[in-house]
Amino acid sequence: MPANSPGQHRKQQSLISQRVNQIPPSGIRRFFDLLASMEGVISLGIGEPDCATPWHIREAAIYAMEKGYTMYTSNLGMPELRQELSRYLKDKCNIVYDPNGEILITVGVSEALDLVMRGLLEPGDEVIMPDPCYVSYPACVILAGGVPVMVPTTQEDNFEISATDIEARVTNKTKIILIGYPANPTGAVIGKEKLTQIAEVAQRYQLLVIYDEIYAKLVYGVEHTCFATLPGMKERTILLSGFSKAYAMTGWRIGYAAANREIIAAMTKIHQYTLLCVPIMAQVAAIEALKSGEASTTEMVNEYNRRRRVMVKGLNDIGLPCFEPRGAFYAFPSIKGTGMTSEEFSERLLIEEKVAVVPGTAFGKCGEGYVRCCYATSLADIEEALSRMKRFADKYKKKG
Ligand SMILES: Cc1ncc(COP(=O)(O)O)c(C=O)c1O
Repeated sequence: MPANSPGQHRKQQSLISQRVNQIPPSGIRRFFDLLASMEGVISLGIGEPDCATPWHIREAAIYAMEKGYTMYTSNLGMPELRQELSRYLKDKCNIVYDPNGEILITVGVSEALDLVMRGLLEPGDEVIMPDPCYVSYPACVILAGGVPVMVPTTQEDNFEISATDIEARVTNKTKIILIGYPANPTGAVIGKEKLTQIAEVAQRYQLLVIYDEIYAKLVYGVEHTCFATLPGMKERTILLSGFSKAYAMTGWRIGYAAANREIIAAMTKIHQYTLLCVPIMAQVAAIEALKSGEASTTEMVNEYNRRRRVMVKGLNDIGLPCFEPRGAFYAFPSIKGTGMTSEEFSERLLIEEKVAVVPGTAFGKCGEGYVRCCYATSLADIEEALSRMKRFADKYKKKG
C-alpha cells in the first residue's frame, strides 16, 4: 500500500479513541476480578445490599410477565411509574415534578449520569466535584468531552465539600457542580446549611448542580436534604436517583432523572437513540417499590445501622481510625498507620487474610491512605473480617 493511501495513517494511531484511552478501568472491578479467582474471601468490597429484592417487588414483576408485559414502553418510562415518582417526590421532599416532561426513567443512575453529561457539556466545559468521589463521576465527564475539576475533601472536614473550595475553582469554563451525599466512598452526609452555601455559589455563577441522591434513604440519625428544594434550586438542579440501594434492586438496572423540561428533553433524545427504554419488568417492579416498599427499606436501614456501629467501632478498636459515616453503607478508615499505600494494603489484605476492601485511590487522589469497607454484608462476616483485619494490622504496625 502506498505511504499516503487512505487508511495508511491509521496504522500509526491507536484504534481506541483518546477519550476512552484517557480513563483508567474502574479500580473497583480490578479487585473483583482478583477476588473471583480466590476461595474463602469475605468481601467488604462491592457496594450493594447483601439481600435479594423484597419478595413483593419480585412478585409484581413475575406477575407482570405472566400477564404479557414484555414490550417496549414510552421512551420516558411508563406513565404510571412517572406518576408514582412525581407523587413520591411531592410526599417525601415537597417538590413537584411534572410526570409528563420533567421525569425520565433511566437504566440506573449510571445511565442518567452519562446522559446528563452528554446532554449538557461542550468540549472543555468544566465540572466541579469532590475528591474522593464515585468512580463514574469523572469518567462520565471525560467521556462527554468535559474536564473534571476535583475539590479535595478531608477526614478533618468529615469529607464534606465546601462552598468556598468550590468557588475557588470556578472559571469561565465551569458549567456544573456534581455532588451526591450521602457519599460513596466515605459515607459522609452534608447538612442543609452547607448545601445552602453551595446553592448560593451555583446561583452566583449561573451553574447547574447535578445531585446524586441514590443513598438518600440510607441515613442514620440525620436528615437528608433534597438539594432541589433549596431556594431557587429546582430550575438549576438535575436530581438523579434510583432503586438499586434503597430497595436492594441493583440487578434490575433502574433509576431516574428529574429536572426542567429542556434538560429532560435533551437527555431523552440520547436515551431514545441508545437505550430506547428501561426494561418493562424493572419498571413494574419499581412501581411496586414506590407503592409498598417503605417498610422493607426501613427494615434494611435499621439492619445497616446495626452493622455500621459494629464496623466503625471495630475499625477504631483495631487502630484504623474511622470517622463516623452517617449515610450509605460504607466505612472509610485511615490505614496510614500501617505505612502502606491504599493499593498495597488492599492487595496484601486480600492475599494474606482473604478480606476484600477497595483502595481509597480508586475514588481519587485524596483517597490515598484510606480504604472503603462496605458493611452491607452479614454481621457474622463483618465480625470475622474485623478479626482478620486486626491480625493483619497488628502484624504491619509492629513491623513499622
Ligand atoms: C454514588 C453512586 N451513584 C450511582 C451509582 C450507580 O447506581 P445505579 O445502580 O443506579 O446505576 C452508584 C453505585 O454504586 C453510586 O455509588
